[in-house]
Amino acid sequence: MEQELGFGILGAGLIAPFHAKAIKACSGARLVGFADVNKARAEKLAAEFDATAFGGLDEMLCHPAVDVVNVALPNHLHADAVIKCAAAGKHVITEKPPAMTLRETDAMVEACRKAGVKFACTVQCRVRKAVQAMKKAVSDGRFGRLLHADAIMKWFRSTEYYQSDAWRMSRRSGAGVTVQHAFHYIDLLQHLAGPARRVQARMTNLAHPSIALEDTLLAFLDFENGAQGVVEASTALWPGTDVRIEINGTDGTAIMVGERMATWKFREETPEDDAIRQIGNASQPTGATGAADIGYHDHQVVIEDMIDSIKTGRDPIITVESVRPTLEIVLAMYHSAAKGTPVDLPVEDDESIWEWRK
Ligand SMILES: NC(=O)c1ccc[n+]([C@@H]2O[C@H](COP(=O)([O-])OP(=O)(O)OC[C@H]3O[C@@H](n4cnc5c(N)ncnc54)[C@H](O)[C@@H]3O)[C@@H](O)[C@H]2O)c1
Repeated sequence: MEQELGFGILGAGLIAPFHAKAIKACSGARLVGFADVNKARAEKLAAEFDATAFGGLDEMLCHPAVDVVNVALPNHLHADAVIKCAAAGKHVITEKPPAMTLRETDAMVEACRKAGVKFACTVQCRVRKAVQAMKKAVSDGRFGRLLHADAIMKWFRSTEYYQSDAWRMSRRSGAGVTVQHAFHYIDLLQHLAGPARRVQARMTNLAHPSIALEDTLLAFLDFENGAQGVVEASTALWPGTDVRIEINGTDGTAIMVGERMATWKFREETPEDDAIRQIGNASQPTGATGAADIGYHDHQVVIEDMIDSIKTGRDPIITVESVRPTLEIVLAMYHSAAKGTPVDLPVEDDESIWEWRK
């Protein structure tokens, strides 16, 4: 039997059980344990998933069975943890956003490169079948000239969700609808239609007055290929409806709703188009109504890909280098919203998220 790779999850909070279920569902993977500064949280999940509880990263890194660390910490803590894992010779999957600045992101990538370990990021929506079909259609030129790439995310998160931990109310820790929730869908626009060359953003707080964050983002994007796009993203809009990703070109339109292909129409029909129209499941929650209203299948694909990349030596499908431009767009959005002007890319390596001003 082939040897299984051992996985350790760093951070035993909201997303950790989804990583755990995904690891358990992968062949070739073994869940070793959970590490959390709040050891009771690690113990609770360890009991649930029949794994070991560690009081922190150092303790988990000493365990010889850990080959890969899934970093599921608050956003501002990813960079140090990833660099530490790399120095210990562990492969890493980091949650999104990879880090808070481009400089930190580059330092993480460099640390993993130097250590010879694989490094991936869970912008897991990229592995959805509908997104993969859209990406292939873009690469095959089926849309003709790209005209629009839009993300409409009308979600809901309660005030209690924000108040459940201090980091969820702090922009400096990576909270706010833009860098936290919309990151996935800005990433899809970047992945499908990027690179971007200019952004203009407006950020408001519509329904969470006790929290000093934007809960709503409106942004325009200009892409280098001449297409334009709109991002409407909110956690203020009860009860929350499925995200829409819309790609339009001179020769075709594709719309994904949640994970389902809702529209797939091209001037030139191909034999596989009927099957593509059937992609997705309308009853699969994708995060619209609550942070835990998601499945773990997309994470499983990212983990299976990590296992294969370790075994074969190739790069993971979602490298952190490929997510860097998304962070760059997000940082430019914060800059634009603070200044009230459009911002051209690239941004400075040390550009960071601007503090919230009403
Ligand atoms: N990919 C997705 O769809 C998705 C969904 C939700 C969250 N996330 C990401 O997952 C990450 C975690 O989010 P969450 O909602 O689970 O947060 P959370 O606050 O629920 O969990 C974070 C955990 O990390 C622990 N922690 C904090 N500092 C630590 C340290 N130095 N060492 C060890 N443990 C520490 C906390 O005690 C907490 O249990 C974030 O990056 C977030 O953006 C991704």
